Amino acid sequence: MNPVYNIYRDFNYNFVNGPFYKTDKTIKISNPIKLWDYTIEAPIGIGAGILLNSKWVELYSNLGYSVLTYKTVRAYKKKALSMPNCLFVNYDGGLVTSNMPSNKNNISITNHFGIPSQDPEFWMEDVEISVNKLKKNQILILSVFGETRRELLRCVEMAAETPAHAIELNVSCPNVSSDLILDRNLLIKIRNTVRVPLLIKVGYPTQEFENYIKPLLCFIDGLSMINSLKINNISLCGALLYNKLIEAIKRYRTITSLPILAMGGINSKDRVLEVLNLANVAMFVTAAIFDPLIGSRIFK
Ligand SMILES: Cc1cc2nc3c(=O)[nH]c(=O)nc-3n(C[C@H](O)[C@H](O)[C@H](O)COP(=O)(O)O)c2cc1C
Repeated sequence: MNPVYNIYRDFNYNFVNGPFYKTDKTIKISNPIKLWDYTIEAPIGIGAGILLNSKWVELYSNLGYSVLTYKTVRAYKKKALSMPNCLFVNYDGGLVTSNMPSNKNNISITNHFGIPSQDPEFWMEDVEISVNKLKKNQILILSVFGETRRELLRCVEMAAETPAHAIELNVSCPNVSSDLILDRNLLIKIRNTVRVPLLIKVGYPTQEFENYIKPLLCFIDGLSMINSLKINNISLCGALLYNKLIEAIKRYRTITSLPILAMGGINSKDRVLEVLNLANVAMFVTAAIFDPLIGSRIFK
């Protein structure tokens, strides 16, 4: 099967021509849970990154994923960084790039996009189109970003005007520069703007980060984790992240009982089941590019 996202073409090509997996079938995966005030048809979803626009949301909604995250948007239009945006990676003492591994369970890739965005006029309408494509008991999370406090707040204000079911603050992308400090005052302003559940997307926790986020947890409704991990200056996603994800969830569980949407190398039924013992929803990103039907095999 061809990957749904073509890593050999640029972001705009994928945005316009993708997704590269077509199906007329819709798959129903039923294993309902409660998440905030929503009933969710199954505790599996797609994390921020590969739902580039409403066509991609529609595909993964048809494939039965219940929690769908619209790729991070900004308060203004921004082009993606030039290619290569994604390369296959093997861990071999150091990191080496390679061809696609034959075993899907070994796929790890780099992620180097720099958070591109359409202009708000486009994405606000497209989020509405996306929500209208969802099936019963599916939700759409809108991921937002700003390089400064002002930009983030502006983006949140526009996101809050869309019918997205939840908003996720992407404050952990390792390949953008930002002087944003998500402090109490900013978060209170954001909280007062957002009427739906509010999530923070975090990376692998350092002690310093844990201390910083602890007093902010009372203003949010959940955590998404983990973002790509920077190793040797490369932003890594996929299979290699899995142990870090499990460590991260266990550490965050010692400081909060908020819902956790987990992602980072989840690419098999065993991993989904292990994650669901610790977190509320298992999310796929890299695995869903190369194995879009993975979700439908979990709850048979
Ligand atoms: C192609 C690609 C694009 C991504 N874009 C975003 C993004 O826009 N916003 C974000 O918060 N994370 C983004 N990520 C990170 C993922 O959401 C996720 O945190 C990370 O890839 C770990 O999950 P995985 O191992 O299942 O890929 C991206 C990852 C990939 C592979």
